[in-house]
Amino acid sequence: MFGYGSLIWRADFPFVERQRASLAGFARRFWQGSHDHRGVPHAPGRVVTLIPDPDSRCDGVAYAIAPAVFDHLDHREKNGYERFDVELHLSSGRSPGVVYIAPRDNFAYLGDAPLDEIARQIIDSHGPSGSNLDYLLELAAALRDLDAQDAHVFELETRIRGLLPAHAHPLLA
Ligand code: SIN
Repeated sequence: MFGYGSLIWRADFPFVERQRASLAGFARRFWQGSHDHRGVPHAPGRVVTLIPDPDSRCDGVAYAIAPAVFDHLDHREKNGYERFDVELHLSSGRSPGVVYIAPRDNFAYLGDAPLDEIARQIIDSHGPSGSNLDYLLELAAALRDLDAQDAHVFELETRIRGLLPAHAHPLLA
């Protein structure tokens, strides 16, 4: 299973192995609404989904998991995400895998917006799993740990640093 968002840094499920991986032909974007984790129904937050883009590659993490773990993951990723079969690039070569993507036609999809608007929405949103700011900053930190590139995520982090004082969050300090 390929994780590219919270599944990178919040592994609340058992796994046999974890390694850096990438998925060709997709770009990570904060274009999915979150009514259940990082926002609420009347004020959704923004979380990542994958957009088909032949020129892009998304870096993340591949987990080897037992089939039963999908019961938990299908519930966790229920807000518009669907499981898709993909081919992953691992350090050892290519491997079939699955990924949760929230497609454009799902009920919670928000789509593109000016980056400053997305940054504001992330700063302002909170849900049962915590703040949307945690989600963005934890993801940016996890991508740096993986030595992964992602202009969209890092630009959002930079804009948020411009909008908030360093003491507003431990990961901004
Ligand atoms: C993922 O992490 O792979 C899916 C999106 C999310 O749960 O943040």
